[in-house]
Amino acid sequence: MTTILSAQGLTKNYGDVVAVNNVTLDVKEGALFGLLGPNGSGKTTMIKMLTGQVRPTGGSATVLDLDVIKEPVAVRDRVGIIPEQETPPSFLTSMEYLRFVGAVRRIQDLDAKSDFWFDFLEFRDKKNVLCKDLSRGTRQKLMFAQAFIHEPALALIDEPLINFDPIMQDLVKDYLADYTKKGRTIFISTHILEVAEEVCSEFAILHKGNLLHTGPVAELTGRGEHLPQFFLSLVRKDRHV
Ligand SMILES: Nc1ncnc2c1ncn2[C@@H]1O[C@H](COP(=O)(O)OP(=O)(O)O)[C@@H](O)[C@H]1O
Ligand SMILES: [Mg+2]
Repeated sequence: MTTILSAQGLTKNYGDVVAVNNVTLDVKEGALFGLLGPNGSGKTTMIKMLTGQVRPTGGSATVLDLDVIKEPVAVRDRVGIIPEQETPPSFLTSMEYLRFVGAVRRIQDLDAKSDFWFDFLEFRDKKNVLCKDLSRGTRQKLMFAQAFIHEPALALIDEPLINFDPIMQDLVKDYLADYTKKGRTIFISTHILEVAEEVCSEFAILHKGNLLHTGPVAELTGRGEHLPQFFLSLVRKDRHV
């Protein structure tokens, strides 16, 4: 199967802090890949490196056959991204923001595509509301729409469910699972382990910047193990190393 994303020895130092240490991993086409780890383990830094937002200190990565260091703008063009704590511009309405994204991404039939998202995530009533006046959850809906509106071959989402209520979480989980069934690929970071077990096909565990494990979720569940327990025992062991 085609490799959609590949990191080789990816490393990022912030001064003395080693945020990501020599991580090598591959993500295959059609995977719903979950990057798991406690707070501060390097998940956001990994996603930023893989989307060309942060330049690695060492190593290399390719995304959709593009080198993330040499071609960060081309990477951005091809993928969908939801960064961790970003919100849409305060001075635009929801619809204006999607038009802006549509222009950058040269999207055809933007109005019809936007309407799908306003209906699907149930925020049509916020179409003409300034983003500064939206709740956190609604801003996240808009961020979701902008990431998927061009139906990218690969979407990278940092903590996809964090601002959603349980009903929205359910809707979004189903959407992500369906999206990969069409042969497209999703890379998420999350520390909600139950969700990862439920929706991810593959997962990796990061701890203090180090990759502790990577593999299919089914390998674990097939032998009667569960991801939360597996995660906790690995991370606890690593704490005492
Ligand atoms: N811009 C930055 N400057 C300095 N240190 C940073 C910066 N971004 C992240 N870090 C540090 O790198 C480590 C990994 O952070 P992060 O990638 O945000 O982890 P996670 O997303 O898993 O919580 C943490 O120790 C964090 O404090
Ligand atoms: Mg993070």
